[in-house]
Amino acid sequence: MDAGQRETPYLDALSAYAARRPARLHVPGHKGGQGADAGLLEAIGAQALSFDIPALTYGIDVGVEPTPFEQSQRLAAQAWGAKRAWFLINGASQGNLAAGLALAHRGREVVVQRNAHSSTIDALVLSGLRPTFAAPEVDAELGIAHCLTPGTLDAALAATPRAVGAWIVSPTYFGAVADIRSLAEVAHARGVALIADEAWGAHMAFHEDLPEHALAAGADLVISSTHKIVGSLTQSAMLHFGHRAGELIDEETVDRAVTLTESTSPNALLCASLDAARRQAAVHGRELLTHTMGVLADTRAQIRAIEGLDVLDERMTGRPGVFAYDPLRLAVDVRGVAASGYELARLLREIGDINLELYGQNVLVAVFGMGERGLEEAQRLVDALRVAVAQVGLTLEGSSESFAAAPPWGELAMTPREAYLGRQEVVPAAEAVGRIAAESLATYPPGIPNVLPGERLTAETLEYVQSTLEQGGSVRGASDRLLRTVRVVVEAAAELDEDAESGSFG
Ligand SMILES: Cc1ncc(COP(=O)(O)O)c(C=O)c1O
Repeated sequence: MDAGQRETPYLDALSAYAARRPARLHVPGHKGGQGADAGLLEAIGAQALSFDIPALTYGIDVGVEPTPFEQSQRLAAQAWGAKRAWFLINGASQGNLAAGLALAHRGREVVVQRNAHSSTIDALVLSGLRPTFAAPEVDAELGIAHCLTPGTLDAALAATPRAVGAWIVSPTYFGAVADIRSLAEVAHARGVALIADEAWGAHMAFHEDLPEHALAAGADLVISSTHKIVGSLTQSAMLHFGHRAGELIDEETVDRAVTLTESTSPNALLCASLDAARRQAAVHGRELLTHTMGVLADTRAQIRAIEGLDVLDERMTGRPGVFAYDPLRLAVDVRGVAASGYELARLLREIGDINLELYGQNVLVAVFGMGERGLEEAQRLVDALRVAVAQVGLTLEGSSESFAAAPPWGELAMTPREAYLGRQEVVPAAEAVGRIAAESLATYPPGIPNVLPGERLTAETLEYVQSTLEQGGSVRGASDRLLRTVRVVVEAAAELDEDAESGSFG
């Protein structure tokens, strides 16, 4: 590790600014806390408010170069092995938006993993890119989606010869990690950049026992949600540009896209937290992760010992779409107990004030951070699970519940952008068959979008979504969560002509 990694130039410059009690003739109007509401001051403290300064403050992000802000971003790039890193103040979501805009400078088509995060779909809306969707591997037993295989990516790229990028997700919410090395080879062999949404894997660069992280494995642009597991403040994240990415994606275009997708008033506390989280990960990450992985291994063993429960772990490796497993997620398979994941999550809240990251019909997911030490919460979870399982009992039919495969996606009749900006109307679900969706519908389980904006709705898909709802599942993205109605695009040629004349977007 480079000695520079022990430094936090941005955090230090901010502390020095606050400590010297400058005349703050700039925003924000609370003036370092003096003008703040007393309740806020008490809640978050004078120190935090004194650090809340605007962009373009001399000696912090403007002035003698490299400024502390530039130095901190360089240290971050070095820590993750990138050519360049950008601090993002609008989460990994911003990273996806920026990636889409940067790709759109190179062409109009892209291959996208079908179960991408909603911010990737928003990126398609913003950029106007036309996606070819590539299906992740679906685990019919658990009812969850894993990663994209290199074969699937290759076929999607072959079907999209004008694609300018391949956009994948790894790790998943459940800890499945893709074979990024092979995916990068496939993308590069077809002359396109590999964009990896590694929102859930920022920690993987800091321990040799963890799966190889996306940059190291050859991805070109990596979206990293630093706040998730590495533990910077919520909403802070990073975008990493690989050393060889310049051959396939333009660095300055990415820079411009990052600026376009963020406020002109980036929050200094968020940036400082990225600087500090990078130092902690680079200097202490290995030791912290060793400890956390040890405690989690023990916790998994305790959960497996509870009759009716199982855990997802490295035994998943080798299943289709699971090249490796990230142990920082604790996913509990609840098919053996007589309650769904939804019911168990509610019970855990009531029994032990246990608040989970995610739950579905068959699985509960608890997330652990890189810097947790005692991991008391892990024991609280185990204890509460014991009580909950004793309350609900075991399932009679055994743990073999699976779910019906979703019907094929409808034809992509227009780009997500055209559907989003086009004239729209809300129609009863029964009348929506054959219409173009203006919104996403993603049933949970397994959480893969059944419909995306721009796709034609089919009777099979609408029936599938309805039956998932009837069985206690949910649908995300729909304006009507009960799917009595659907928002669709108005396609009538007459209306479109009228719009063109009046310039209306509907
Ligand atoms: C795969 C993936 N990408 C991107 C994001 C967006 O991250 P953020 O909340 O930091 O904007 C998430 C959030 O959960 C995610 O799961």
